[in-house]
Amino acid sequence: MKKVITYGTYDLLHQGHINLLRRAKELGDYLIVGVTSDSFDRGRGKLNVRNNVLERVESVKATGYADEIIIEDYLGQKIDDIQKYNVDIFAIGSDWEGQFDYLNEYCKVVYLPRTKGVSSTMLRAESQEVYKVGIVGSGRIANRFVPETKVVNGVEVVSVFDPDKENAIVFSNTHALKAHSDNYDAFLGEVDAVYIASPHLTHYDYIKKSLEAGKHVLCEIPFVLSGTQAKNLFDYAETHDLVLLEASKTAFCPAFCHITTLVKSGIIGEVIDVKASLSKMVKGDTRELDVTQAGGAMNEHAPLTLMSIIKLLGKDYSKVDFYSKVENGVDVYTKANICYPHATASITLGIGVKTEGNLIISGTKGYIYVPAPWWLTDYFEIRYEDQTKNKKYFYCYDGDGLRYEIQEFISMIANHRRSCYKLRRRESIAIANIIEMYNNKENVTIL
Ligand code: CTP
Repeated sequence: MKKVITYGTYDLLHQGHINLLRRAKELGDYLIVGVTSDSFDRGRGKLNVRNNVLERVESVKATGYADEIIIEDYLGQKIDDIQKYNVDIFAIGSDWEGQFDYLNEYCKVVYLPRTKGVSSTMLRAESQEVYKVGIVGSGRIANRFVPETKVVNGVEVVSVFDPDKENAIVFSNTHALKAHSDNYDAFLGEVDAVYIASPHLTHYDYIKKSLEAGKHVLCEIPFVLSGTQAKNLFDYAETHDLVLLEASKTAFCPAFCHITTLVKSGIIGEVIDVKASLSKMVKGDTRELDVTQAGGAMNEHAPLTLMSIIKLLGKDYSKVDFYSKVENGVDVYTKANICYPHATASITLGIGVKTEGNLIISGTKGYIYVPAPWWLTDYFEIRYEDQTKNKKYFYCYDGDGLRYEIQEFISMIANHRRSCYKLRRRESIAIANIIEMYNNKENVTIL
Protein backbone atom coordinates (compact mmCIF):
# COMPACT_ATOMS: atom_id res chain seq x y z
CA MET A 1 0.00 0.00 0.00
CA LYS A 2 1.36 3.42 -1.01
CA LYS A 3 0.94 5.99 1.77
CA VAL A 4 0.78 9.73 1.06
CA ILE A 5 0.93 12.52 3.63
CA THR A 6 0.12 16.21 3.28
CA TYR A 7 -0.20 19.13 5.68
CA GLY A 8 -2.02 22.44 5.92
CA THR A 9 -4.13 24.80 7.98
CA TYR A 10 -7.23 24.33 5.79
CA ASP A 11 -8.87 27.47 7.11
CA LEU A 12 -12.16 28.42 5.37
CA LEU A 13 -11.83 25.29 3.22
CA HIS A 14 -11.82 26.26 -0.45
CA GLN A 15 -11.55 24.69 -3.92
CA GLY A 16 -7.74 24.96 -3.85
CA HIS A 17 -7.66 22.71 -0.77
CA ILE A 18 -10.11 20.24 -2.29
CA ASN A 19 -8.09 20.01 -5.55
CA LEU A 20 -4.88 19.55 -3.57
CA LEU A 21 -6.36 16.77 -1.43
CA ARG A 22 -7.75 15.02 -4.51
CA ARG A 23 -4.40 15.18 -6.29
CA ALA A 24 -2.56 13.98 -3.18
CA LYS A 25 -4.94 11.06 -2.78
CA GLU A 26 -4.44 10.10 -6.44
CA LEU A 27 -0.71 9.70 -5.78
CA GLY A 28 -1.26 6.59 -3.64
CA ASP A 29 -3.72 4.34 -1.81
CA TYR A 30 -3.95 5.92 1.60
CA LEU A 31 -3.94 9.65 2.43
CA ILE A 32 -2.93 11.09 5.81
CA VAL A 33 -3.72 14.77 6.28
CA GLY A 34 -1.93 16.79 8.97
CA VAL A 35 -4.04 19.71 10.15
CA THR A 36 -2.18 22.39 12.15
CA SER A 37 -3.21 22.90 15.76
CA ASP A 38 -4.37 26.37 16.82
CA SER A 39 -1.34 26.86 19.07
CA PHE A 40 1.09 25.71 16.36
CA ASP A 41 -0.37 28.27 13.94
CA ARG A 42 -0.23 31.03 16.54
CA GLY A 43 3.34 30.05 17.37
CA ARG A 44 4.40 30.46 13.73
CA GLY A 45 2.76 33.88 13.54
CA LYS A 46 -0.49 32.84 11.80
CA LEU A 47 -2.79 34.81 14.08
CA ASN A 48 -5.78 35.28 11.83
CA VAL A 49 -7.02 31.76 11.28
CA ARG A 50 -10.83 31.85 11.46
CA ASN A 51 -11.83 28.22 11.98
CA ASN A 52 -10.61 26.42 15.06
CA VAL A 53 -8.81 23.11 14.74
CA LEU A 54 -11.98 21.02 15.22
CA GLU A 55 -13.83 22.92 12.51
CA ARG A 56 -10.85 22.59 10.16
CA VAL A 57 -10.58 18.84 10.82
CA GLU A 58 -14.31 18.48 10.13
CA SER A 59 -14.00 20.31 6.78
CA VAL A 60 -11.07 18.14 5.68
CA LYS A 61 -13.05 15.04 6.71
CA ALA A 62 -16.06 16.26 4.69
CA THR A 63 -13.99 16.28 1.45
CA GLY A 64 -13.90 12.49 1.69
CA TYR A 65 -10.27 12.30 0.52
CA ALA A 66 -8.53 11.81 3.88
CA ASP A 67 -8.17 8.24 5.17
CA GLU A 68 -6.65 9.56 8.39
CA ILE A 69 -6.36 13.02 9.92
CA ILE A 70 -3.62 13.92 12.38
CA ILE A 71 -2.80 17.16 14.17
CA GLU A 72 0.46 18.96 13.42
CA ASP A 73 1.62 20.55 16.63
CA TYR A 74 5.37 21.13 16.46
CA LEU A 75 8.19 22.06 14.16
CA GLY A 76 9.98 18.99 12.86
CA GLN A 77 6.92 16.79 13.30
CA LYS A 78 6.80 16.00 9.56
CA ILE A 79 10.00 13.92 9.84
CA ASP A 80 8.59 12.04 12.83
CA ASP A 81 5.24 11.41 11.10
CA ILE A 82 6.79 10.18 7.85
CA GLN A 83 8.82 7.59 9.76
CA LYS A 84 6.11 6.71 12.27
CA TYR A 85 3.42 6.11 9.61
CA ASN A 86 5.82 4.56 7.02
CA VAL A 87 4.92 7.22 4.48
CA ASP A 88 6.01 6.82 0.84
CA ILE A 89 5.15 10.27 -0.52
CA PHE A 90 5.05 13.72 1.03
CA ALA A 91 2.82 15.99 -1.10
CA ILE A 92 2.33 19.73 -0.81
CA GLY A 93 1.22 22.64 -3.04
CA SER A 94 3.66 24.19 -5.48
CA ASP A 95 3.73 27.44 -3.48
CA TRP A 96 6.16 25.49 -1.25
CA GLU A 97 8.39 24.41 -4.20
CA GLY A 98 11.85 23.51 -2.91
CA GLN A 99 11.09 24.19 0.74
CA PHE A 100 10.52 20.56 1.70
CA ASP A 101 13.36 19.01 -0.30
CA TYR A 102 15.01 18.07 3.02
CA LEU A 103 12.28 15.41 3.42
CA ASN A 104 13.70 13.50 0.40
CA GLU A 105 15.94 11.75 2.92
CA TYR A 106 12.83 10.06 4.38
CA CYS A 107 10.38 9.67 1.45
CA LYS A 108 9.58 10.98 -2.02
CA VAL A 109 8.61 14.68 -2.09
CA VAL A 110 6.01 15.81 -4.65
CA TYR A 111 4.99 19.43 -5.26
CA LEU A 112 1.46 19.47 -6.67
CA PRO A 113 0.10 22.30 -8.84
CA ARG A 114 -1.54 25.00 -6.75
CA THR A 115 -5.01 26.17 -7.78
CA LYS A 116 -4.78 29.73 -9.01
CA GLY A 117 -6.84 32.62 -7.69
CA VAL A 118 -7.91 31.32 -4.28
CA SER A 119 -6.35 31.15 -0.81
CA SER A 120 -7.51 31.29 2.79
CA THR A 121 -5.73 34.64 3.13
CA MET A 122 -7.77 36.01 0.25
CA LEU A 123 -11.06 34.65 1.63
CA ARG A 124 -10.29 36.05 5.09
CA ALA A 125 -9.56 39.46 3.60
CA GLU A 126 -12.72 39.44 1.46
CA SER A 127 -15.04 38.44 4.26
CA GLN A 128 -13.39 40.49 7.00
CA GLU A 129 -14.87 43.78 7.96
CA VAL A 130 -12.07 46.27 8.58
CA TYR A 131 -12.52 48.19 11.82
CA LYS A 132 -11.25 51.76 11.91
CA VAL A 133 -9.23 52.35 15.04
CA GLY A 134 -8.21 55.71 16.48
CA ILE A 135 -5.32 56.07 18.91
CA VAL A 136 -5.59 58.33 21.91
CA GLY A 137 -2.12 59.61 22.76
CA SER A 138 1.07 59.71 20.74
CA GLY A 139 3.74 58.49 23.14
CA ARG A 140 6.09 55.49 23.19
CA ILE A 141 3.50 52.73 23.44
CA ALA A 142 1.22 54.34 20.82
CA ASN A 143 4.19 54.34 18.42
CA ARG A 144 4.72 50.64 19.03
CA PHE A 145 1.01 49.92 18.53
CA VAL A 146 0.67 51.00 14.90
CA PRO A 147 3.21 48.54 13.36
CA GLU A 148 1.68 45.72 15.43
CA THR A 149 -1.76 46.34 13.87
CA LYS A 150 -0.27 45.59 10.43
CA VAL A 151 0.01 41.87 11.23
CA VAL A 152 -3.61 41.57 12.37
CA ASN A 153 -6.48 41.26 9.88
CA GLY A 154 -9.51 43.51 10.11
CA VAL A 155 -7.94 46.58 11.64
CA GLU A 156 -6.76 49.88 10.24
CA VAL A 157 -5.42 52.71 12.35
CA VAL A 158 -6.98 55.77 10.74
CA SER A 159 -6.49 58.58 13.20
CA VAL A 160 -4.69 59.86 16.28
CA PHE A 161 -5.95 62.19 18.98
CA ASP A 162 -3.64 64.34 21.04
CA PRO A 163 -4.67 67.57 22.80
CA ASP A 164 -1.32 68.91 21.59
CA LYS A 165 -1.98 69.37 17.87
CA GLU A 166 1.74 69.39 16.98
CA ASN A 167 2.19 65.95 18.57
CA ALA A 168 -0.84 64.62 16.68
CA ILE A 169 0.52 65.90 13.36
CA VAL A 170 3.99 64.39 13.93
CA PHE A 171 2.47 61.02 14.92
CA SER A 172 0.08 61.00 12.00
CA ASN A 173 2.91 61.80 9.54
CA THR A 174 5.25 59.21 11.07
CA HIS A 175 2.69 56.45 10.61
CA ALA A 176 1.04 57.79 7.45
CA LEU A 177 -2.41 57.96 9.07
CA LYS A 178 -5.36 59.46 7.22
CA ALA A 179 -6.29 61.86 10.03
CA HIS A 180 -5.26 63.50 13.29
CA SER A 181 -7.17 65.62 15.73
CA ASP A 182 -6.99 67.68 18.90
CA ASN A 183 -10.79 67.57 19.23
CA TYR A 184 -12.02 64.41 20.95
CA ASP A 185 -15.58 64.47 19.64
CA ALA A 186 -14.46 65.02 16.05
CA PHE A 187 -11.88 62.25 16.46
CA LEU A 188 -14.51 59.81 17.77
CA GLY A 189 -16.72 60.61 14.79
CA GLU A 190 -14.19 59.02 12.44
CA VAL A 191 -13.54 55.67 14.15
CA ASP A 192 -15.23 52.39 15.15
CA ALA A 193 -12.94 51.72 18.09
CA VAL A 194 -10.24 53.43 20.12
CA TYR A 195 -6.96 52.38 21.67
CA ILE A 196 -6.19 54.56 24.67
CA ALA A 197 -2.50 55.12 25.34
CA SER A 198 -2.62 58.50 27.05
CA PRO A 199 -1.33 59.46 30.55
CA HIS A 200 -2.84 57.34 33.36
CA LEU A 201 -5.13 59.97 34.86
CA THR A 202 -6.89 60.65 31.57
CA HIS A 203 -7.97 57.03 30.98
CA TYR A 204 -11.31 57.13 32.79
CA ASP A 205 -12.65 60.18 30.95
CA TYR A 206 -11.45 59.04 27.55
CA ILE A 207 -12.93 55.56 28.04
CA LYS A 208 -16.24 56.98 29.25
CA LYS A 209 -16.55 59.46 26.38
CA SER A 210 -15.64 56.79 23.83
CA LEU A 211 -18.20 54.32 25.18
CA GLU A 212 -20.85 57.06 25.30
CA ALA A 213 -20.13 57.69 21.62
CA GLY A 214 -20.71 53.97 20.93
CA LYS A 215 -17.04 53.07 20.35
CA HIS A 216 -15.30 49.88 21.43
CA VAL A 217 -12.31 50.51 23.71
CA LEU A 218 -8.93 48.89 24.28
CA CYS A 219 -7.21 50.77 27.11
CA GLU A 220 -3.56 50.61 28.13
CA ILE A 221 -2.46 49.74 31.66
CA PRO A 222 -3.06 50.99 34.27
CA PHE A 223 -6.62 50.68 33.01
CA VAL A 224 -8.12 53.00 35.65
CA LEU A 225 -6.89 53.59 39.18
CA SER A 226 -10.17 52.72 40.93
CA GLY A 227 -12.16 49.51 41.15
CA THR A 228 -15.45 51.40 41.28
CA GLN A 229 -14.58 53.32 38.13
CA ALA A 230 -13.55 50.09 36.39
CA LYS A 231 -16.84 48.42 37.36
CA ASN A 232 -18.93 51.39 36.19
CA LEU A 233 -17.17 51.39 32.82
CA PHE A 234 -17.55 47.63 32.32
CA ASP A 235 -21.24 47.82 33.33
CA TYR A 236 -21.80 50.61 30.83
CA ALA A 237 -19.99 48.71 28.06
CA GLU A 238 -22.02 45.58 28.77
CA THR A 239 -25.40 47.30 28.74
CA HIS A 240 -24.49 49.11 25.52
CA ASP A 241 -23.12 45.99 23.81
CA LEU A 242 -19.59 47.38 23.46
CA VAL A 243 -16.18 45.75 23.85
CA LEU A 244 -14.06 47.15 26.66
CA LEU A 245 -10.72 45.46 27.20
CA GLU A 246 -7.71 46.20 29.39
CA ALA A 247 -4.55 46.07 27.24
CA SER A 248 -2.61 43.88 29.65
CA LYS A 249 -0.41 42.52 26.87
CA THR A 250 1.02 39.50 28.73
CA ALA A 251 -2.47 38.14 29.43
CA PHE A 252 -2.95 37.56 25.70
CA CYS A 253 0.45 36.21 24.73
CA PRO A 254 0.56 32.49 23.84
CA ALA A 255 3.21 31.38 26.34
CA PHE A 256 1.51 33.05 29.31
CA CYS A 257 -1.88 31.61 28.26
CA HIS A 258 -0.23 28.19 28.17
CA ILE A 259 1.17 28.67 31.68
CA THR A 260 -2.31 29.42 33.04
CA THR A 261 -3.88 26.38 31.37
CA LEU A 262 -1.05 24.11 32.57
CA VAL A 263 -1.43 25.40 36.13
CA LYS A 264 -5.22 25.02 36.05
CA SER A 265 -4.76 21.44 34.79
CA GLY A 266 -2.87 20.67 38.00
CA ILE A 267 0.59 20.15 36.54
CA ILE A 268 2.26 21.60 39.68
CA GLY A 269 -0.51 20.50 42.06
CA GLU A 270 -2.35 23.05 44.17
CA VAL A 271 -0.92 26.56 43.78
CA ILE A 272 0.30 27.83 47.16
CA ASP A 273 2.39 30.86 46.21
CA VAL A 274 2.89 33.23 43.27
CA LYS A 275 5.75 35.74 43.17
CA ALA A 276 5.86 38.28 40.36
CA SER A 277 8.52 40.97 40.04
CA LEU A 278 9.00 43.79 37.58
CA SER A 279 11.53 46.61 37.68
CA LYS A 280 12.56 49.20 35.12
CA MET A 281 14.89 51.95 36.29
CA VAL A 282 13.63 55.43 35.46
CA LYS A 283 15.60 58.68 35.64
CA GLY A 284 15.06 62.38 34.95
CA ASP A 285 12.00 64.46 34.31
CA THR A 286 9.53 61.73 33.39
CA ARG A 287 5.86 60.97 34.00
CA GLU A 288 6.82 57.85 35.98
CA LEU A 289 8.51 60.02 38.65
CA ASP A 290 5.81 62.70 38.75
CA VAL A 291 3.36 62.40 41.63
CA THR A 292 0.84 64.72 39.94
CA GLN A 293 0.65 62.29 36.98
CA ALA A 294 0.09 59.19 39.12
CA GLY A 295 3.71 58.12 38.72
CA GLY A 296 5.37 55.46 40.85
CA ALA A 297 6.23 51.78 40.70
CA MET A 298 2.79 50.66 41.87
CA ASN A 299 0.73 52.51 39.25
CA GLU A 300 3.30 51.66 36.59
CA HIS A 301 3.98 47.97 37.20
CA ALA A 302 1.22 46.57 39.42
CA PRO A 303 -1.23 45.96 36.53
CA LEU A 304 0.88 43.25 34.83
CA THR A 305 2.16 41.60 38.00
CA LEU A 306 -1.27 41.60 39.68
CA MET A 307 -2.76 40.22 36.46
CA SER A 308 -0.59 37.10 36.79
CA ILE A 309 -1.65 36.62 40.42
CA ILE A 310 -5.36 37.21 39.84
CA LYS A 311 -5.30 34.87 36.80
CA LEU A 312 -3.68 32.10 38.83
CA LEU A 313 -5.23 32.52 42.28
CA GLY A 314 -8.46 34.36 41.54
CA LYS A 315 -9.95 37.65 42.64
CA ASP A 316 -11.04 36.62 46.14
CA TYR A 317 -7.98 37.58 48.14
CA SER A 318 -8.44 38.07 51.86
CA LYS A 319 -5.76 40.65 52.72
CA VAL A 320 -3.29 42.94 51.02
CA ASP A 321 -0.44 44.93 52.56
CA PHE A 322 2.13 47.14 50.93
CA TYR A 323 5.71 48.24 51.75
CA SER A 324 7.18 51.18 49.83
CA LYS A 325 10.30 53.27 49.50
CA VAL A 326 9.10 56.75 48.54
CA GLU A 327 11.08 59.60 46.93
CA ASN A 328 9.51 62.98 46.11
CA GLY A 329 6.05 61.58 46.71
CA VAL A 330 6.32 58.57 44.37
CA ASP A 331 7.11 54.98 45.31
CA VAL A 332 10.36 53.97 43.65
CA TYR A 333 9.92 50.52 45.16
CA THR A 334 6.84 48.67 46.38
CA LYS A 335 6.36 45.19 47.65
CA ALA A 336 2.81 43.95 48.21
CA ASN A 337 1.68 40.73 49.85
CA ILE A 338 -1.65 39.44 48.61
CA CYS A 339 -3.01 36.73 50.90
CA TYR A 340 -5.70 34.21 50.01
CA PRO A 341 -7.40 31.77 52.40
CA HIS A 342 -5.23 28.92 51.04
CA ALA A 343 -2.37 30.66 49.25
CA THR A 344 -0.01 33.61 49.32
CA ALA A 345 1.26 35.92 46.61
CA SER A 346 3.55 38.90 46.32
CA ILE A 347 4.59 41.52 43.81
CA THR A 348 7.94 43.33 43.92
CA LEU A 349 8.09 46.45 41.79
CA GLY A 350 10.79 49.03 41.15
CA ILE A 351 11.44 52.15 39.16
CA GLY A 352 14.28 53.31 41.43
CA VAL A 353 15.26 49.93 42.85
CA LYS A 354 16.41 47.08 40.64
CA THR A 355 15.04 43.58 41.21
CA GLU A 356 15.06 40.34 39.25
CA GLY A 357 11.96 40.42 37.02
CA ASN A 358 10.84 36.83 37.20
CA LEU A 359 7.65 34.94 37.96
CA ILE A 360 7.57 31.89 40.22
CA ILE A 361 4.44 29.83 40.73
CA SER A 362 4.83 27.29 43.53
CA GLY A 363 2.58 24.29 43.95
CA THR A 364 2.27 21.15 46.01
CA LYS A 365 3.90 19.02 43.27
CA GLY A 366 6.38 21.42 41.67
CA TYR A 367 6.88 24.98 40.51
CA ILE A 368 6.93 27.01 37.32
CA TYR A 369 9.86 29.34 36.77
CA VAL A 370 9.56 32.12 34.20
CA PRO A 371 12.84 34.05 33.91
CA ALA A 372 13.11 37.82 33.51
CA PRO A 373 11.52 39.51 31.69
CA TRP A 374 8.63 37.19 32.52
CA TRP A 375 6.05 39.63 31.12
CA LEU A 376 7.48 39.13 27.61
CA THR A 377 6.94 35.41 28.13
CA ASP A 378 8.70 33.22 25.58
CA TYR A 379 10.25 30.57 27.79
CA PHE A 380 9.38 28.82 31.04
CA GLU A 381 10.28 25.72 32.98
CA ILE A 382 8.29 23.31 35.07
CA ARG A 383 10.52 22.02 37.85
CA TYR A 384 10.06 19.16 40.29
CA GLU A 385 11.93 17.64 43.22
CA ASP A 386 12.86 14.83 40.82
CA GLN A 387 14.73 16.92 38.28
CA THR A 388 14.49 14.25 35.59
CA LYS A 389 10.80 15.21 35.29
CA ASN A 390 11.58 18.90 34.63
CA LYS A 391 10.24 20.30 31.36
CA LYS A 392 11.22 23.40 29.37
CA TYR A 393 8.80 25.24 27.09
CA PHE A 394 9.93 27.59 24.30
CA TYR A 395 7.70 30.06 22.50
CA CYS A 396 7.94 32.95 20.09
CA TYR A 397 7.05 36.36 21.44
CA ASP A 398 6.57 38.11 18.12
CA GLY A 399 7.31 41.77 17.56
CA ASP A 400 6.42 44.02 20.46
CA GLY A 401 3.82 41.50 21.59
CA LEU A 402 0.89 43.93 21.23
CA ARG A 403 -0.46 41.92 18.27
CA TYR A 404 -2.00 39.34 20.60
CA GLU A 405 -4.17 41.85 22.48
CA ILE A 406 -5.05 43.62 19.20
CA GLN A 407 -6.10 40.32 17.65
CA GLU A 408 -8.25 39.50 20.68
CA PHE A 409 -9.84 42.96 20.65
CA ILE A 410 -10.72 42.80 16.94
CA SER A 411 -11.96 39.23 17.25
CA MET A 412 -14.24 40.25 20.15
CA ILE A 413 -15.73 43.06 18.04
CA ALA A 414 -16.10 40.92 14.90
CA ASN A 415 -17.56 37.91 16.70
CA HIS A 416 -19.82 39.90 19.07
CA ARG A 417 -17.97 38.59 22.11
CA ARG A 418 -18.14 41.03 24.96
CA SER A 419 -16.16 39.04 27.49
CA CYS A 420 -12.75 37.45 27.11
CA TYR A 421 -11.55 34.47 29.12
CA LYS A 422 -7.92 35.59 28.78
CA LEU A 423 -8.72 38.63 30.91
CA ARG A 424 -12.15 38.73 32.48
CA ARG A 425 -13.86 41.99 33.39
CA ARG A 426 -13.96 40.92 37.04
CA GLU A 427 -10.20 40.33 36.93
CA SER A 428 -9.53 43.84 35.62
CA ILE A 429 -11.80 45.22 38.36
CA ALA A 430 -9.91 43.24 41.04
CA ILE A 431 -6.58 44.64 39.77
CA ALA A 432 -7.95 48.22 39.85
CA ASN A 433 -9.28 47.61 43.38
CA ILE A 434 -5.83 46.70 44.72
CA ILE A 435 -4.23 49.70 43.00
CA GLU A 436 -6.94 51.92 44.48
CA MET A 437 -6.28 50.49 47.94
CA TYR A 438 -2.63 51.47 47.60
CA ASN A 439 -3.38 54.96 46.33
CA ASN A 440 -5.78 55.39 49.29
CA LYS A 441 -2.81 54.44 51.53
CA GLU A 442 -4.60 51.43 53.03
CA ASN A 443 -2.15 49.05 54.76
CA VAL A 444 0.87 50.90 53.36
CA THR A 445 4.12 50.91 55.36
CA ILE A 446 6.76 53.40 54.25
CA LEU A 447 10.30 52.06 54.53
N1 CTP B 1 -3.27 25.03 -1.74
C1 CTP B 1 -3.46 24.85 -3.12
N2 CTP B 1 -4.07 25.84 -3.83
C2 CTP B 1 -4.49 26.96 -3.25
C3 CTP B 1 -4.31 27.16 -1.85
C4 CTP B 1 -3.70 26.16 -1.12
O1 CTP B 1 -3.07 23.84 -3.67
N3 CTP B 1 -5.06 27.91 -3.99
C5 CTP B 1 -2.59 23.98 -0.97
C6 CTP B 1 -1.32 24.45 -0.27
O2 CTP B 1 -0.24 24.51 -1.18
C7 CTP B 1 -1.18 23.38 0.79
C8 CTP B 1 -2.62 23.05 1.16
O3 CTP B 1 -3.42 23.56 0.08
O4 CTP B 1 -0.58 22.23 0.23
C9 CTP B 1 -3.03 23.67 2.47
O5 CTP B 1 -2.67 25.02 2.40
P1 CTP B 1 -3.11 26.16 3.42
O6 CTP B 1 -1.89 26.90 3.84
O7 CTP B 1 -4.00 25.62 4.45
O8 CTP B 1 -4.01 27.07 2.42
P2 CTP B 1 -3.84 28.55 1.91
O9 CTP B 1 -5.09 28.92 1.20
O10 CTP B 1 -2.56 28.70 1.11
O11 CTP B 1 -3.75 29.32 3.28
P3 CTP B 1 -3.12 30.74 3.65
O12 CTP B 1 -3.65 31.73 2.65
O13 CTP B 1 -3.57 30.99 5.07
O14 CTP B 1 -1.62 30.57 3.55
